Amino acid sequence: MTPQRFDFDEDIDRRDVPALKWHPMVLGADGADLFPAGVADMDFRAAPAILDALQERLEHGVFGYEAVPEGLYPALTHWLDERHGWDVTPGHILRAPNVLNILAIAATLFTNEGDGIIVQPPVFFDFFDVIAENRRRIVENPLILRAGRYEMDFDGLEQLVAEPRNRMLFLCNPHNPVGRVWRVEELQRLDALCRRHGVLVVADEIHGDITFPGRRYTPFAALGAKAARNCISCLSPAKSFNIASCCSAFTIVADDARRAAFQAENSRLTVNKNNAFASVAMLAAYRDGGPWLEAAINYISGNLALLRATLANLPGVTLIEPEGTFLAWLDFRALGFEPEELTAFLRNDAAWAVTRGEAFGPSGAGFARVNIACPRHRLSAALDRLAKALSRGP
Ligand SMILES: Cc1ncc(COP(=O)(O)O)c(C=O)c1O
Repeated sequence: MTPQRFDFDEDIDRRDVPALKWHPMVLGADGADLFPAGVADMDFRAAPAILDALQERLEHGVFGYEAVPEGLYPALTHWLDERHGWDVTPGHILRAPNVLNILAIAATLFTNEGDGIIVQPPVFFDFFDVIAENRRRIVENPLILRAGRYEMDFDGLEQLVAEPRNRMLFLCNPHNPVGRVWRVEELQRLDALCRRHGVLVVADEIHGDITFPGRRYTPFAALGAKAARNCISCLSPAKSFNIASCCSAFTIVADDARRAAFQAENSRLTVNKNNAFASVAMLAAYRDGGPWLEAAINYISGNLALLRATLANLPGVTLIEPEGTFLAWLDFRALGFEPEELTAFLRNDAAWAVTRGEAFGPSGAGFARVNIACPRHRLSAALDRLAKALSRGP
């Protein structure tokens, strides 16, 4: 079969719609000329298969209440099995509005107020908000940066899981922002520790489909039946297919009692309605979106290569090599800036709008997260500006 071609170089003006990444709300009123590399979505048009399916649904013209389309769960289970070797029982899948909603429901259902939820910073900042806003305690087990690569601190984890009021762990797999795709042995170690102490794992695997060549994402629940029963898996096509504003999410809960509790909570909160466009987009993504996703990952790998090659010649900035996600975690510590000076340097001197490292926890100070899922010429221009700014000296 000839590979399909998709145009990721196309310049699409996302200001034609209220895209957050490009919005004054995120960039500031004077931010129109910045390289928008903060919000975690892609600047690429969605897969033609998704656009065609949405168009067809739109033309139908009737948008009353709907059930889940028959093909959706089979498409999802086939995707998970074929791509990730994960054999999911369709009856274990529940729909959710979005992944953060799953985290919030899991926290409130399976822990009590004041209980600790373990996170491994630097980690996706919304984990902190979900925990705090639901009146649970943020318990940090920071990752260790060793020879340019982040690892879990298993000694620290062993102590934290042994504390009886630490009841849950939010796993980010692959890990936003440091780009680790956790290996089977790492996940097994985490699983053993958590199960030994009755700590429930909530596995946010929203970035699972996006891994670079040679890396393989292992769904936590695919480790085995025991791990699966001690896990709430969170999945969504939002990142993989760039459809965050027109999709919903899935949770996979193998434990019957927990799944029943989840279902009852969804019903209590009335978050169990279906959006026709979300259903259609998700079905098309999982059934027909594979070739587009592969091409997108290939293109993002090209952007990563450009970033890697450019930074290799820029003193003071180090790329933490991502194994997955379209997010690059850059280490600026050698420049010796205070965090607010770094943000100001990137914004004012290089015209970059990034996510500042300390948003991911104190260990992120001196780093920045940069979204590289954009047309290559835009990344290239941004890198030229960074090089010039650095050559002028901090
Ligand atoms: C790790 C992680 N989880 C969850 C989300 C948000 O997911 P949702 O929009 O489905 O709530 C993001 C978005 O950046 C993310 O990076």
